[in-house]
Amino acid sequence: MRRPSILVGVLFLALFCCSPWTVWSSTLCKRKNLERVRPHSVSITEFGAVGDGITLNTKAFQNAIFYLNSFADKGGAKLFVPAGRWLTGSFDLISHLTLWLDKDAVILGSTNSDDWPVVDPLPSYGRGRELPGGRHKSLIYGHNLTDVVITGNNGTIDGQGSIWWSRFQNNTLDYTRPHLVELMNSIGVLISNLTFLNSPFWNIHPVYCSQVRVQNVTILAPHTSPNTDGIDPDSSDDVCIEDCYISTGDDLIAIKSGWDEYGIAYGRPSTNIVIRRLVGKTQTSGIAIGSEMSGGVSEVHAEDIHFYDSYNAIRIKTSRGRGGYVRNIYISNMTLVNIEYAITFNGLYGEHPDDAYDPNALPVIEKITIKDVIGENIKQAGILEGIEGDNFVNICLSNISLNVRSSFPWNCSYVKGYSDMVHPEACEPLMERLFPEHCSDCYYLSNHQQSSNNQRGAWFLSW
Ligand SMILES: *[C@@H]1O[C@H](CO)[C@@H](O)[C@H](O)[C@H]1NC(C)=O
Ligand SMILES: *[C@@H]1O[C@H](CO)[C@@H](O)[C@H](O)[C@H]1NC(C)=O
Ligand SMILES: *[C@@H]1O[C@H](CO)[C@@H](O)[C@H](O)[C@H]1NC(C)=O
Ligand SMILES: *[C@@H]1O[C@H](CO)[C@@H](O)[C@H](O)[C@H]1NC(C)=O
Ligand SMILES: *[C@@H]1O[C@H](CO)[C@@H](O)[C@H](O)[C@H]1NC(C)=O
Repeated sequence: MRRPSILVGVLFLALFCCSPWTVWSSTLCKRKNLERVRPHSVSITEFGAVGDGITLNTKAFQNAIFYLNSFADKGGAKLFVPAGRWLTGSFDLISHLTLWLDKDAVILGSTNSDDWPVVDPLPSYGRGRELPGGRHKSLIYGHNLTDVVITGNNGTIDGQGSIWWSRFQNNTLDYTRPHLVELMNSIGVLISNLTFLNSPFWNIHPVYCSQVRVQNVTILAPHTSPNTDGIDPDSSDDVCIEDCYISTGDDLIAIKSGWDEYGIAYGRPSTNIVIRRLVGKTQTSGIAIGSEMSGGVSEVHAEDIHFYDSYNAIRIKTSRGRGGYVRNIYISNMTLVNIEYAITFNGLYGEHPDDAYDPNALPVIEKITIKDVIGENIKQAGILEGIEGDNFVNICLSNISLNVRSSFPWNCSYVKGYSDMVHPEACEPLMERLFPEHCSDCYYLSNHQQSSNNQRGAWFLSW
């Protein structure tokens, strides 16, 4: 019986070595104050916009933002959207801009798909996510920006997505559906104090971005609405998501990094991601990684999470052909109520962009730690399905107590790891006797400190 000494080791590490983690995770989100005082401000009404919910205001948004571009090098500017229902098609943001939605201001997405032009597919996907070729541009879009803020006093961005959902359901889409907000290749993005409603597709999609903060937003869509993911950090780093309530028809948060051979070739990972104080429910997953993860996903820390009335809480989705990796994932302090599956790994998720993927490109899934979880009315504790010939390794479960309905609480294949204080007792492949260093905060912390010695890390620390 060597378990007690392992346990003492864990406790020792936790008490005397690991406490800095908490400090690290909270400073990541505070490292840079992305809120901005803008010396110049205009209201959308000065550009002829009419907030009657009928008049199309795309030109007014475009003209206002074109005008505000002249202040970009003078501390930037604010575009104020007052109470009203402001119907518009897609428009582009610029650097050093704050889009500010007052209380009872609603930006309404046009229900005419011609108002959402078609743009190129993402290079890391090679095609639209739903259909080959281009994709409709998001309602609010930005490319190559620095310092952009979308905020307000709980104003609303409403995609009026139901027409897109039925076109998806009746198979009449020509191109992949648009997101509500997409920022591409941008640095310094703050999205806060707003409500997002009824997105046609994913709600908030930062892709190839750095320094992204999403704070205090409410994201809502019916549970039956297809693919209305909440927040999808994609090939992005230094992302902080905190104090959000999300209830939608698909994953509340899905961390991604490109798709099969396109994602492998593009090679931009998602890394340094903090999620905390997240509450929500969904018919799919609370926090998902993948299934597009071909550029790699690492250094993810989620804490203080509450999911209820949901299908999966934590889910890693991948497949042969994805390549890439998911490593150093650390999830702690989670409460679950009425959940079908607390932890799910799907190694056979499938879905490929085309037939050119390399079936020998196997994803590496390792160092996944989940600890301090309490669950009420859970159907099954875990379905952990790796890939034959490609075990998912160093899975650590610790201090997990689930009130489970099924008499087969765990179902594991092609996974290996460690478990301690897990109830109901974990499956046999998770009872390895390995030194549980990687199960502790210290591992993550020291690993992070190492990685911050590289240039990006050093720059990141200087936010
Ligand atoms: C963004 O920057 C890239 C690289 O500099 C450039 O090729 C591309 O045209 C830019 N796109 C836009 C929309 O500015
Ligand atoms: C969240 O946003 C609401 C308005 O949208 C605001 O009243 C509240 O103070 C915000 N809370 C935090 C923690 O920022
Ligand atoms: C913001 O508005 C949404 C939708 O009306 C509401 O559910 C949410 O509680 C509000 N948030 C705050 C902080 O007032
Ligand atoms: C599909 O749904 C759209 C949106 O509701 C509708 O306009 C269209 O007529 C439907 N097409 C078919 C073939 O049912
Ligand atoms: C959100 O709103 C609250 C209340 O107005 C304000 O104190 C806070 O700074 C805002 N947060 C962000 C990140 O915009």
